[in-house]
Amino acid sequence: MKHPASVRIVDVGPRDGLQNEPGNVPTAVKVELIERLAAAGLPAVEATSFVSPKWVPQMADAAEVMAALARRPGTSYPVLVPNLKGLEGALAAGAREVAVFAAASEAFSRRNINCSIEESLARFEPVCAQALAAGVKVRGYVSCVLGCPYEGEVTPEAVARVSACLSEMGCYEVSLGDTIGVGTADQTQRMVEAVTRHVPVERLAGHFHDTYGQALANIVAAMDLGVATFDSSVAGLGGCPYAKGATGNVATEDVLYLLHGLKVHTGVDLEAVVDAGSFICEAIGRANASRAGRAMAAKRGRAAA
Ligand code: HMG
Ligand code: MG
Repeated sequence: MKHPASVRIVDVGPRDGLQNEPGNVPTAVKVELIERLAAAGLPAVEATSFVSPKWVPQMADAAEVMAALARRPGTSYPVLVPNLKGLEGALAAGAREVAVFAAASEAFSRRNINCSIEESLARFEPVCAQALAAGVKVRGYVSCVLGCPYEGEVTPEAVARVSACLSEMGCYEVSLGDTIGVGTADQTQRMVEAVTRHVPVERLAGHFHDTYGQALANIVAAMDLGVATFDSSVAGLGGCPYAKGATGNVATEDVLYLLHGLKVHTGVDLEAVVDAGSFICEAIGRANASRAGRAMAAKRGRAAA
């Protein structure tokens, strides 16, 4: 196996995770979570999203989160923007990186952002152009890269086509999302191979949800092809409001345990992420979905007893 020497982790828990919480999460809790993750050494922490509060009320405090956040130099705090209105809000809040989000499946595109794939790509063009003109980096997401909750199978070619469009619009990186966590290692490799015919592997990220317990295997499969950026979520927070039954992203603690075991450099302090995971689970009254996080917290408890 030829793994990259170092991997960049983007913790998407404060956005992808908390967007799915049924209860109200206080802004101060969100801010503390983001600050703890950044202090643990995560190079990027997806902070919030500037989306319609009617669609995702959990993110209605996006501007307040950004205003309260003590930003560390060198850490990136990307925010999701679905349209120009979102970009306007993000720029006003001082965001330095935004992310647009498309899908490889027509039905998911309509459910998630209320338009077709083509319409979404046309909508993102001016978003990318205006963000880049303002000196703001743009990341692109493609959802449903290994399956769609409404349409089932999604072809690698469909993923490649949308990825190529986002890359051509100026997205510095395209994050490939297995939104419903159904894919396996072999499918992951076929999909990544198809995308790399259009977008260089250095500009790809893997975004695996862990619904079927395949996320770590899929990360190793993607790393074998040279992918060196992965999205994950502290304590495995989350799911997707438009993909019923999908669990959260693969847990950051589990990914770090895997990578550090493989001697892949991340620059992240796993113990500090475990603390952040315990903090958020306690604050929102949720069970910790990270196996490594639970095991490490239990070990500490035994040592202290
Ligand atoms: P729409 O209803 O078609 O939009 O929604 P519209 O343009 O007709 O506007 C309707 C209302 O929303 C108007 O307000 C707008 O002002 C307002 P009204 O006049 O009725 O009072 N509005 C906004 N408000 C605040 N911020 C905005 C904004 N835009 C319009 N940016 C829209 C279309 C895209 C806005 C909506 O569908 C939306 O916000 N969708 C977001 C859905 C979402 O956040 N999904 C979760 C993130 S994606 C994900 O989790 C997958 C990912 O993790 C990768 C993976 O796992 O695969 C990234
Ligand atoms: Mg996601």
